[in-house]
Amino acid sequence: MISQNEAQLLDVEEFEDIIKEDLTDAVDHGIVVSNLAYLLSQELGMDEEFCYDMAIAGMLHDIGKLKLSKYLYGRRKDSLRIEEMKYVRMHSTYSYDILKEKDFNEKILEAIYHHHENYDGSGYPDNLKGSSIPWGARILRTCDVFAALISSRPYRRAFDINMAMELMIDEVKNFDMEIFLAFQRVIHSEAFEKVKNFTMNANKKALDKSIVNYYNQL
Ligand SMILES: [Fe+2]
Repeated sequence: MISQNEAQLLDVEEFEDIIKEDLTDAVDHGIVVSNLAYLLSQELGMDEEFCYDMAIAGMLHDIGKLKLSKYLYGRRKDSLRIEEMKYVRMHSTYSYDILKEKDFNEKILEAIYHHHENYDGSGYPDNLKGSSIPWGARILRTCDVFAALISSRPYRRAFDINMAMELMIDEVKNFDMEIFLAFQRVIHSEAFEKVKNFTMNANKKALDKSIVNYYNQL
């Protein structure tokens, strides 16, 4: 566990900034995954109701991360890296718990709960493998990884579309091949342009902000 001392590394103002930053990133990421999951479901021939469910699941899949904000206190001091922390692995369960209370349907809930399962069984929370992973979770997994790769993160710049696809091909064992091939078609479709533009704008804003932060520190 994180000690009280570590949890007080940042003052209130800095903490508020981090929360704001996290929320903006979370909303932007949700919008991208939501749109991709909708388009991918359509490409896979799913009915409108399923596509809509996946759009909702895409928007809300990481909502449990908000519960982890209290573990982010040390981030700017480089003492903790959220991606390396085991608590992160709890977020899909937290997302499920939060949304179950709100009566979201089972398709949405199971897709969210399992959205970090890998096709080869190396994911979490249940190490499910292949077809035992709910179909919706396999769709989310593919969209989520791609959306993360093409977005700027506090610790790295965004990858371009081709590089993101190459990185995913290197790790293709994580994905359902039928879904992955359909996803490649989505990326080359006209409908994807809108998602791409949204992501580029979000990345540009993040870059502008980091330049402002850099000059503020001089
Ligand atoms: Fe996630």
